[in-house]
Amino acid sequence: MAEENKNKKEIDKHSGVETTGHEWDGLKELNNPAPRWWMWVFLATVIWAFGYWVVYPAWPTLTGHTEGNLGWTQYKKLEGEQAEILARKEKYVSKIDSSSLQEIRNSSEVFEFARQAGESLFKDNCATCHQIGGAGAKGYPNLNDDDWIWGGTLEEIKTTLNHGIRAGDENTRVSAMPAFGKDGILQQADINKVTQYVLSLSGKNTDTNQDKIASGKQIYADNCVSCHGEKGEGNKDVGAPNLSDAIWLKAEGAEEIAGFISNPKMGVMPNWAGRLNDSQIKMLTIYVHSLGGGK
Ligand code: HEC
Ligand code: HEC
Repeated sequence: MAEENKNKKEIDKHSGVETTGHEWDGLKELNNPAPRWWMWVFLATVIWAFGYWVVYPAWPTLTGHTEGNLGWTQYKKLEGEQAEILARKEKYVSKIDSSSLQEIRNSSEVFEFARQAGESLFKDNCATCHQIGGAGAKGYPNLNDDDWIWGGTLEEIKTTLNHGIRAGDENTRVSAMPAFGKDGILQQADINKVTQYVLSLSGKNTDTNQDKIASGKQIYADNCVSCHGEKGEGNKDVGAPNLSDAIWLKAEGAEEIAGFISNPKMGVMPNWAGRLNDSQIKMLTIYVHSLGGGK
């Protein structure tokens, strides 16, 4: 059949173009050449392909593939991109290393980098106790409010982070509230009275007997003022919380507060110097300060 068709070349009457001799049900194929531009593009792609084989990894071989003389791989590309990111970070980290906390706070660009890096360090190291975003939980202070036990200035926060609270560091923050009940300093009846007085400082007393509250005030003056202050305002030097702001760290309600006064359980916060480097501690300080820093 093919042999036969070859001999049947003819000129198409309508277009004046030679046919290929192929014919289906009276439809004939015209022997038009491919357009010249198409040929050039086709040739160019063929040349491109040869070039690509030489330069890039292309053909599978028994042991792997041809490497291409550029030595390009996706791993190397990734490494290059990561190195670029590191270099960009390095620029900020070295600024953080060489600046004081206040200088970092004052430079909006470095501050924003430190705050974000601090936030992710916080998730990794601190959120187990203080919760994500520093919301806190019973025994673990909320870091968002402006109520600070040990102090909320940049330097005070940094000291807390470096040395911890009642932690295994020679410069750690220490202080202990006496166990007034357990060690027999106060009788239970007196503990109940001073509890009502403490609650009355924020208008939360559950016993309204004024005599009891007055004698609770006397017990407070004799035993508690030295740490918690005359009006229960607290004292950051010894980490004694404010007792008049209705923000409770360790105990809430008459029963728990009386229990705490009787036998307090002191909070422990790990020291981070040595576990984290100085620039990480600075970034964390900036982050925590941005949450509720100040006083
Ligand atoms: C093992 C639990 C734990 C971890 C982890 C922890 N903390 Fe604490 N943190 C505490 C406790 C408990 C206190 C309160 C100590 C006290 O009662 O005085 C505290 C107190 C603080 C304070 C002082 C608050 C104030 O009012 O003065 C700051 C600031 C603080 N933590 C920040 C951090 C940061 C930042 C991290 C992560 C690097 C962290 N903490 C990790 C348990 C923890
Ligand atoms: C030597 C200092 C000191 C003395 C004296 C002292 N406290 Fe405290 N008190 C503290 C410290 C420090 C804390 C915080 C404990 C912690 O963070 O783990 C505290 C915590 C408390 C709390 C818990 C506050 C909260 O937010 O949950 C109450 C209540 C309290 N004290 C009441 C008293 C009363 C009442 C007296 C007197 C009978 C007294 N304290 C005497 C140091 C003292």
